[in-house]
Amino acid sequence: MIEIRDRVRCAKLHDKIMSAEQAAEFIKDGMNVATSGFTPSGYPKAVPLALAEKAKKNPMKINLWTGASVGPELDGALTEANAIDKRLPYQTNDTLRKSINSGKVKYTDLHLSHVAQMSRYGFFGGGVDVAIIEACAITEDGYIVPTTSMGNSSSYAQTAKQIIVEVNVTQPLALEGMHDSYVPMDPPNRKEIPVVAPGDIIGTTYIKCDPAKIVAIVPCDITDKVRPLGPIDEDSKAMGRNLVEFFKAEVAAGHLPANLLPLQSGVGSVANAVINGLVNSDFKDLTVYTEVVQDGMFDLIDAGKLTVCSGTALSPSPEALEKFYANVEKYKKYIILRPQEVANSPEVARRIGVIAMNTAIEVDIYGNVNSTHITGTKMMNGIGGSGDYARNGYLTVFFTNSVAKNGDISSVVPMVAHHDHTEHDVDIIVSERGVADLRGKCPVDRAKEIIEKVAHPDYQPMLRDYLERAIVATKHAHTPHILEEALSFHIRFNKTGSMKIK
Ligand code: COA
Repeated sequence: MIEIRDRVRCAKLHDKIMSAEQAAEFIKDGMNVATSGFTPSGYPKAVPLALAEKAKKNPMKINLWTGASVGPELDGALTEANAIDKRLPYQTNDTLRKSINSGKVKYTDLHLSHVAQMSRYGFFGGGVDVAIIEACAITEDGYIVPTTSMGNSSSYAQTAKQIIVEVNVTQPLALEGMHDSYVPMDPPNRKEIPVVAPGDIIGTTYIKCDPAKIVAIVPCDITDKVRPLGPIDEDSKAMGRNLVEFFKAEVAAGHLPANLLPLQSGVGSVANAVINGLVNSDFKDLTVYTEVVQDGMFDLIDAGKLTVCSGTALSPSPEALEKFYANVEKYKKYIILRPQEVANSPEVARRIGVIAMNTAIEVDIYGNVNSTHITGTKMMNGIGGSGDYARNGYLTVFFTNSVAKNGDISSVVPMVAHHDHTEHDVDIIVSERGVADLRGKCPVDRAKEIIEKVAHPDYQPMLRDYLERAIVATKHAHTPHILEEALSFHIRFNKTGSMKIK
């Protein structure tokens, strides 16, 4: 077995060190199992793999709660073993996505800031039976030092009946000190979360828990399976340039300070590419208060443009993870990892005035956003933290390519087929073609702005035609729609005849 005794600094806990197979025996059919992990970072690996093997031999199902998406050893292996009944709150795994969209796994897509408190309130059908938390060490007092993510680990460990700790020897000990663990009290005793600036430290560098609840400590040497990012294509570069020009104009108008306000940037290739636009800009002394620390953030640090980067998880590409591991001490000076309940806190986002920047699958002419459902029915990933920030940002921006699937599909449609963010939560839409500024505009003016500034020229004529006919048909109603046409646009006007369903 891999030697981890020097990482388990609480000698009293040494007799809890055991194999993943032994630890998996604590997990029984029907249990609520809550894990560390947020994006494929800092999630448990050895115990889920052992649990999957156990479930293959003796069929069983658990309800799996995480921070957000996790790696294949957890979502992939357990889905393949048919061992997940209910899953929440976010995922990006292909195998799991297929099971969700074929009715095999019951999935609850939640605002990520809500998850820890809802689990404490007991809204998910009982509390946490077993928490499995990845650690790089256990302190002298038996507390858990997390790894590359915080997610919901603090709250899950605090409330779980039993805790399994996976001590991962591939995670550098130098990670210790990067985390700020804090669990708010629940109503009616809740106080303010005392973050007033992105760099504020309000908690502890370890997760406090009752060491008596630790039933197993499992050695693990499996690495985080971080995902590669798509290449930064010309359209993404154009979106980045459009955003930078928009920011410059906002600074000139006195809407933003010269170093902007704390940036929140969403997940995925587009979000990362857009941050890259800032790397190449003249902006400096930037701050970040976000959910995931993607490659662009490391680049901003390297370029000397970032003073602090607060998030809940590292979400680097394999190359950026390697760069991070080789320079942990350098990056640690800038990066703070907090529980998602704090990183995504609407209260904090509103107080510090984040610039919320997330990606849409499609937007409609009035500014409503679909971030989650292809054709309104098939779950892609989930809403993640986008809603936490979008509703509460100082300025809320959504990015979308004007078209998808090589131009066969317009990403601007008359009516989104699924609503994640309503028109009330969307200030700015950026595509590779331009920037639509929706602030203070009535629905018809918003529609004109979106069609003219962000839609693709191939689709502008049919969108203009729809708007004009809808205005006539409704006799200038406040939000003109021809309902029988609004959603069939996806089928009637896109060049494929229908949107490709994943
Ligand atoms: N119609 C059909 N498919 C579409 C589409 C549209 N209008 N727009 C995008 N897609 C498809 C793309 O073709 C791609 O498909 P593929 O995986 O088969 O290649 C997929 O959706 C992802 O699109 P991509 O352009 O690669 O974007 P991305 O990697 O930047 O991800 C989201 C975009 C919206 C899926 C992603 O940002 C997300 O899950 N967002 C919700 C959660 C969130 O915002 N979290 C942030 C909180 S901090």
